[in-house]
This record gives sequence, structure tokens and C-alpha cells, in this order.
Amino acid sequence: MALSGAGSGFGRRTTTALAVLALTLGVTGGVVVAAGGSDDEQALAPSRKPASQGIEHKVDVLLAKMTTEEKLQQVQLLSDGQITDADAKAGVGSVFSLVDPEKINHFQHLAVEESRLGIPILFAYDTIHGYRTIFPVPLGAASSFDPKVAAADHEVGAKESALVGLKQIYSPMVDVSHEPRWGRIVEGAGEDPYLNSVMAAARVKAAQGTDYSAPDKVVTSVKHYVAYGQPEGGRDYNTTDMSEQRLRNIYLPPFKAAIDAGSDTVMCSFNAINGLPGCANTYTETDILKDEWGFDGFVESDYTAVAELRACPGVPNDNFPCGHQVAADAPSAAAMALMAGTDSEMVSKYLVTYGEELLDQGRITMARLDDAVRRILRVKFRAGLFDNPYVDVAKALDPASFGKPADLQAARDAAARSMVLLKNAGEPAPLPLDPDKTTAVIGPFGDDGPDMLGGWSGRGDDDLAPDPVTLVEGLRAQSNAEVTFTQACNRVNTFDPPNNANPPLDPEDEVCADDSGFDEAVTAATDAEQVVLALGETREMSSEANARSDLDLPGMQEELLEAVAETGKPVVVVLFNGRPLALPRVAASADAILEAWYPGTEAGNAAADVLYGVVNPGGKLPVTFPRKVGTVPLYYNHEPTGRPCSPTFKWNSRYRDLDTCKPLYEFGFGLSYTTFDVSAPALNKTSVKPDGKVRVRIDVTNTGSVTGDEVVQMYLHDPVASISQPVKRLRGFQRVTLGAGESTTVTFTLDKSDFGFWDNSGEYVVEPGEIEVYSGSSSELVSAAKTFTIT
Ligand code: NOJ
Repeated sequence: MALSGAGSGFGRRTTTALAVLALTLGVTGGVVVAAGGSDDEQALAPSRKPASQGIEHKVDVLLAKMTTEEKLQQVQLLSDGQITDADAKAGVGSVFSLVDPEKINHFQHLAVEESRLGIPILFAYDTIHGYRTIFPVPLGAASSFDPKVAAADHEVGAKESALVGLKQIYSPMVDVSHEPRWGRIVEGAGEDPYLNSVMAAARVKAAQGTDYSAPDKVVTSVKHYVAYGQPEGGRDYNTTDMSEQRLRNIYLPPFKAAIDAGSDTVMCSFNAINGLPGCANTYTETDILKDEWGFDGFVESDYTAVAELRACPGVPNDNFPCGHQVAADAPSAAAMALMAGTDSEMVSKYLVTYGEELLDQGRITMARLDDAVRRILRVKFRAGLFDNPYVDVAKALDPASFGKPADLQAARDAAARSMVLLKNAGEPAPLPLDPDKTTAVIGPFGDDGPDMLGGWSGRGDDDLAPDPVTLVEGLRAQSNAEVTFTQACNRVNTFDPPNNANPPLDPEDEVCADDSGFDEAVTAATDAEQVVLALGETREMSSEANARSDLDLPGMQEELLEAVAETGKPVVVVLFNGRPLALPRVAASADAILEAWYPGTEAGNAAADVLYGVVNPGGKLPVTFPRKVGTVPLYYNHEPTGRPCSPTFKWNSRYRDLDTCKPLYEFGFGLSYTTFDVSAPALNKTSVKPDGKVRVRIDVTNTGSVTGDEVVQMYLHDPVASISQPVKRLRGFQRVTLGAGESTTVTFTLDKSDFGFWDNSGEYVVEPGEIEVYSGSSSELVSAAKTFTIT
């Protein structure tokens, strides 16, 4: 028996987190329960507001006055390089990537004062992890397993963006991905739909607030809708083909969470989903997003995604890409996109050019055009643009407006909370470092500012932005002894390679191309009491259009590590990278490994906080780290098979050249300078009706000798279902800080949205039978299961 129509992603949580007030109780033992929700479930609590009748009325009145030409202008979204005075006077809808506040005001004045109806322009920007104060890249922030980190990032990013007149941000990016080769894995929260959902909801709420017309708030655009994170071969923009159940169980939930949190705009994706591109996909854009979920905001196409619907050579033969081959020419592409549910066309201008003709031919309808315009106007009214269209230019050009001390502190805290300790071996362990000992910092990323910001780093590089703090600067600021720096080998930062990279860039040349500086590095290591090696990828090696076919450290970085390790000095490797890497050689030679990702403006200070133990690392991996590129996609929440992997028996799902089925580091893994004990889950009942609730309690104790953070993780598994269910799926997490010997209890509440799954006909089903509940400190380090039965 199946019950349908219940769940809708991860949106209906009610939970209580229990916090310890251990200080009032003495050192060990007692637990005091405080009211409140676990951070994940609080982040997911829906907060979308119903439409305001006042705004709906204003939209109707304005729409009734618009000519067809004005409506077609309203659905046009131009880049900074495209917008002209004539566009503004004609009433163009939106502009993106224009960041000069004087120019923003210039065009806004033309639109408001010289277009016939005075409709303001919506200015948008890719504020992904900060505008000028840069926070860790989203994959790093996801490692914090702390929605407050994502929230702090978007609160500051929204404030700094709104200050220059940008009222829409193209964030959060919530593409679940099992593809480490894909460069854009750095922009999302990794391989898990629940973690992505929590971070997405936290970002939306922080950026929009309760009312995004506030001067420090913006409307968010959740992207890339949908399933863009699973391109075949990991190559950007490539085809995605997937079952309905995967689409709904894995890829849609973070979008639903963002919509439930109030996100009022959505960006449709470049990729084809089962043959139909994201911006021409009626099923995902209209049936699911607008009809099933009730989304009343607007969908903009990704850059030239409408043009890309065309066959090649594109007709007309303009400068825009083509190739999906689902539309014969530009008018057909425009019609497909609009009628599928795309409301706003980015960069290409096909609707504005051919719209009248398409209406005459009946290939698009006025009802649909009106609907698109209505959605855009609704968002503009909600954003307060009609009342406050202009920028305070003096404020927007004042360096003091950006990188404020409290925001830098928030970025530093976020970065430190995002770092993951992967290894710390030896007696004594090399970390934390001793500030009274001399330190050799070695490697291409040791005194590197720009890479610390990662990809999509807004205006983090410009003159009004605070300078990024390098690793060696951060360590020097906290050391009482000498800290030397030896770069050892080269690093080339190539954002726009010549001829758009033809022939392709060779990462082996970009970082550590030769070993001529290794002797100097060995000498520096020999002369110092402790050694920190700064290794990784340049920031240009991840983000858009930056897939890699290898996952090792590029160039001779591993050889550099091995040469330095030969000295016998304990070596601490700090990694700056934008994807999961295959690190067996690093793990074999390094005594300690800290995954720092790209930490943002405060990189060096945050890394020093962690390396010196001022902050005890508590981050966990949001993605599986494989041993070899050939094993990907490799992810913890995979479906079971009839021949589960075993390295010791031939006839099963294994690699004949690997003696293990395990990744190098699993999802949810991360060490600390202290130790924790996470109890088995305790359930408040062993059977439940489909519409009932089950409470899960998990105790956690700091069993070590220093204060530290643990992420308590709860996983579910449905052992027998009509469709194979993931061997484990994360459903709850709470990051807690505990003093030595302290304990606390975390509780989560499960309901119908957790008991079932989406099937291949698009129905949510809850089947009678057992559900297993696991608790632990990673996806592998889990307790024995406790079960409850759905009756
Ligand atoms: C293309 C990217 O795919 C998207 O993420 C971004 O928001 C737009 N360009 C606008 O910059």
C-alpha cells in the first residue's frame, strides 16, 4: 500500500535541540535541556509569505497599461556590456553584472524618468559567497555543517550588494553533485540533498530577510534549475539523463527548500534533462516549480541558454552559442523557452525581437507573456524598487562601506568553521602548531592572496575590497617565533586563457611545473622546527567551465611534499582547492592534512586560528574524497546493488585493481583536536502511522581534554522498498561545541516527509515496513541501527 502526495522535500520539520548548560552543572555528567530547534530543522522551517493583495493590485494596474512592446522589454535581461540608454528608455526589465553605482543610477534614472511607464530596472549580480567581503566558497561553507555560516555569508553579501544597487543575487547555487571532475562542484553544498537543502534555505532567509525591500536585503535566485550538477563525464554544460525518482529524491529537494524559504527567483539551467534543456523544460519549470510548488516569482534563463536551444549553425547566425538542436531557429527558441515557463531571457534578445511575430502566429500566447511580466513586476514591487530605485553613490563608493570589522570577523569565523582536519598523526601530533617554534611555510599557495578567494568571488579583488590575508601573513600574526616563506615552485593564474584555451591548459604547467626550487624548500624545512606546506589548485581550476580529468594535486606538488617529508620534519599540509581531490600520495607522506578549501578574505587568519588551535577544527566533508579519478562518481548515498562491492571476491561490484571499496575520506568525515562519543539513537516509539512522528535523541560527549566541535549526524535507511533506497541518507545534523567532558543531547523529529520517497511516476509514497536510524560522526562511523516500523 502506498500513500501519495505527502512529502515535498525537506520542508516540514519540527524539532527540539537540547543544549547543555554544563558550566552550571560542573564538568562532566549532567545534561540540561533547553528549548529551541536543531539548526538544520530551523533553517528548513518554511517562511514563504503569501502574496500581498496590495502588490497584486498594483501589478494588475500596471500590466493593464503596458503595450506588447513594453511587455517584451520587461522579459529582457541584458548584461553590463549590452545595456544602452535606448534600452533603459524602452523599459528593459533587468541588467546583470553592472556594478558601477553611477552607471546603475544613470540607467535607472532613464528607466524611471524617461521610459513611458517608469518601471525600474532590476540589477543583478553573482554574489555567491560575498560581494567584497569574501566568505569561504560554498563547498567550504557546507563543510561547516552549520547553516549559520551560510547565513552569515549571505547576510553580508546581500548588504554589500544592495549598497551598490544590486537587488537580485544569482545565488544560492544548490546543485547536488556526485561529480568531482565538474568544476562547479565548488559552488554548491556537495553530494547530499539534505545538506544542500539546509544551506540553501539558510542562505535565502539571510539574504532576503522577512522583506527584501529593506535596504540591506536582496531577492535570491536559486540555480541552476535543475540537475545541472550531474553532467555526463563531469564536463560542464553536458547532458543529464536521470530517472524521475532520482530527480525528485536527490536534485529537486534543495530547490524546494529554497522556494519554501521564500526565494522569489530561479535560474533555469543550460543542461538537457532527459533530452530537454532546463530553460525549455515545461515539466520542471511549469508543472513542478510553478504548478506543483506554487512558485509565484520569476525564472530567468542562464546566459544565452535560450540561444543554445537552437540547432547549429544558429539561425540567425549571431554571436550566441547554439547546439541543443531542439529549436530550428531563434524565434522557435524564444517560443519554446517562454511557453515552457522561462520568464526572462538573459543575453540573447529573441523574445523582444520576435515576440510580436510569434504572437501573431499563435506560437506564444498573450496570457503566457502577461504571466511572465506579472511575475517580474511582482518581484520588483516586493523588492521596493518602485519606492527606492536609486543608489546612494557616495556610500556605494566609500571603502568604509565594505569589509567592516564585524563582517570580517564573521568571514574569519565562517572560514575557520569550514576547515576539515583530515589527518593528524604521530606522537605528539603535529597540530596544533606551537606558536613559540620557528615555522617554514612552503609551497605555491603559501603567500597567495587571490586564490584564497576562490572562484565567483564577486568584487573581492577590486580596490574597494579588503585585501585577502595570505597563509603566511596569518601565521606570522599569531606566531612568537620566525615564520619563513619559500614558494618552491610556480603558480600561474589564468582566468581567460589565450584563444579560449586552444590548445587546452595543462594543469601540470600551471602549478609546480618543475622541481628547481625544491632544494631551497628542503633547506627551509630543515632549518625550521615545524613545517606547513600550502598546496592545492588555483582558483581557475574550478568553477564554471573548469572540469578536470584528473583529481590529483596538479604539477609536482606531491613530489614537493615527498621531498620535504624526507627531511623527517613533521609536515602539515594545508589544502586550497575547489573539489574533492584524490589524495593517497598526500595522505601517505603528510603527518597532518587540513582541508581549507578557498577560505575567502580572512583566509590566512582563519587558517592560523585552526593551525594554532585557537579554533578547534570541526568541519566535516560534504563530498566523498575518492582514491582515484577512475572510481568517480563515488558517493555515500548510493543505491544498493545485488553484488555489493567487496575487495576479496571477484563476482561483485568492485575494481580489480583496488584492494578496498572505501573512499579515502568519506562524506561527513573530519577530525578534531579532541575526541567525541556519539551515542546510538534513542527513539521515542518503535511503530508509527504514516502521519505520525518519531523523535530521535542522540547524546554526544567530549571525551578529550580540550573544548571542541562535533557534528552529530543522523542517517536513515529503508531496508526494503519497492524502489532500492540509498544505503544511507543524511536526515539530521547539529554542530555542537562542548568543553572537555561535557555532554549534550540533540533531538530530531521525523515525519511523513522522511518516511517515504518519490517513485518513478512522480508520486511520493510511504510504504509500510521498517526504517533504520543511525547516528554517528561520519557516514561510515555510525552506531548500530535502531528501527521503527511504519504501520
Ligand atoms: C552563467 C552561470 O552559469 C550562472 O551561474 C551565472 O549566474 C550567469 N552566468 C550570470 O553570470
